[in-house]
Amino acid sequence: MKAIRYHEVGGPEVLRLDDVPEPTPGPGEVRIRVKAAGVNFADTERRRGLYDAKSPLPRILGSEAAGVVDMVGPGADAQWVGRRVVALALQSYAEFATTSEQELLELPEHVSFEEAAGLLVQGLTAWHLIHTSAQLRPGQRVLIHAAAGGVGLLAIQLAKQTGATVLGTVSTEGKARLAREAGADDVFVYGGASSVAEWVRKLTDGSGVEVVLDSVGASTWESSLESLAPFGHLVAYGSASGHPPLVDVEALYARSLKISAYWLRTPHPPALQRRAREALGQALGKGQLRVTLGLVVGLGEAVRAHQQLESRATVGKVVLRVP
Ligand SMILES: NC(=O)c1ccc[n+]([C@@H]2O[C@H](COP(=O)([O-])OP(=O)(O)OC[C@H]3O[C@@H](n4cnc5c(N)ncnc54)[C@H](OP(=O)(O)O)[C@@H]3O)[C@@H](O)[C@H]2O)c1
Repeated sequence: MKAIRYHEVGGPEVLRLDDVPEPTPGPGEVRIRVKAAGVNFADTERRRGLYDAKSPLPRILGSEAAGVVDMVGPGADAQWVGRRVVALALQSYAEFATTSEQELLELPEHVSFEEAAGLLVQGLTAWHLIHTSAQLRPGQRVLIHAAAGGVGLLAIQLAKQTGATVLGTVSTEGKARLAREAGADDVFVYGGASSVAEWVRKLTDGSGVEVVLDSVGASTWESSLESLAPFGHLVAYGSASGHPPLVDVEALYARSLKISAYWLRTPHPPALQRRAREALGQALGKGQLRVTLGLVVGLGEAVRAHQQLESRATVGKVVLRVP
């Protein structure tokens, strides 16, 4: 089969379209004929060697796939064969990928493979940020950085559905428009006169926000802390601009602030993960959650997809369409 592999860590150019053997599903697993593979910022970090650095190379990239089950392994339910599904599945930049039967979410006919490929990694992350980590409540205010990104646009929608007020930061006017369309109440575009924290204080009568979701790291960290109200909560979940500084606990006392981290690969209680997956699947199926497809390219164009994602040129979800 065709698959995108990296033979060495480095820039987007290390990605290659290779011919590799098709995978076979193991016990309890299924094989998916991939139609669309989601591209995530973490894939660019993995390719650069910042993530899973000990995995042997060459390695196929990817972490989620939408497609049709074409084979089941020992012990897996044969009724999955032929069904349209989406799942967390490693090494999904390929024509076929395997995953545990437990990971499968069946797709309604009207949901496209491309949309579905934008649902799981970013949707589960957004869902857990809002519901599991921040436990956002009606009337609270949340600041979301990279608000027009894949996680950002989904987090805005989920936060609005809880009854929160949503503020976002982005780097361009075009991204601001998308964040507003997703439901953000106000959006800060970098490059203006005021700082993010000044802007937040102005919009919140000087008090600050109860929650900040920060995936940018180094360049946003200080403004995230400054934007918090007393007892506010900063949830860190990425470092697109580099790692944030070490936490100075002494600096948190004056406003009794809280900092936590969220990682999708932390083992989650199975019932919680099932609830999150089902909630997302239902919301997408009923049209209550919209996946914005910012860039859809063929499998062979993975280099371009990574270049665009890393240079902040994308909005919403980046997807590789597999012929
Ligand atoms: N913890 C977890 O389990 C988990 C799971 C999924 C994703 N993540 C993290 O969440 C973040 C969002 O992921 P995503 O896939 O949805 O990506 P994304 O938000 O679509 O893309 C990254 C965005 O980060 C912003 N950014 C700010 N400074 C940047 C810089 N120096 N270089 C590149 N981008 C920069 C850009 O938005 P602006 O130009 O508007 O600032 C850019 O569009 C990533 O940091 C990712 O690693 C974490």
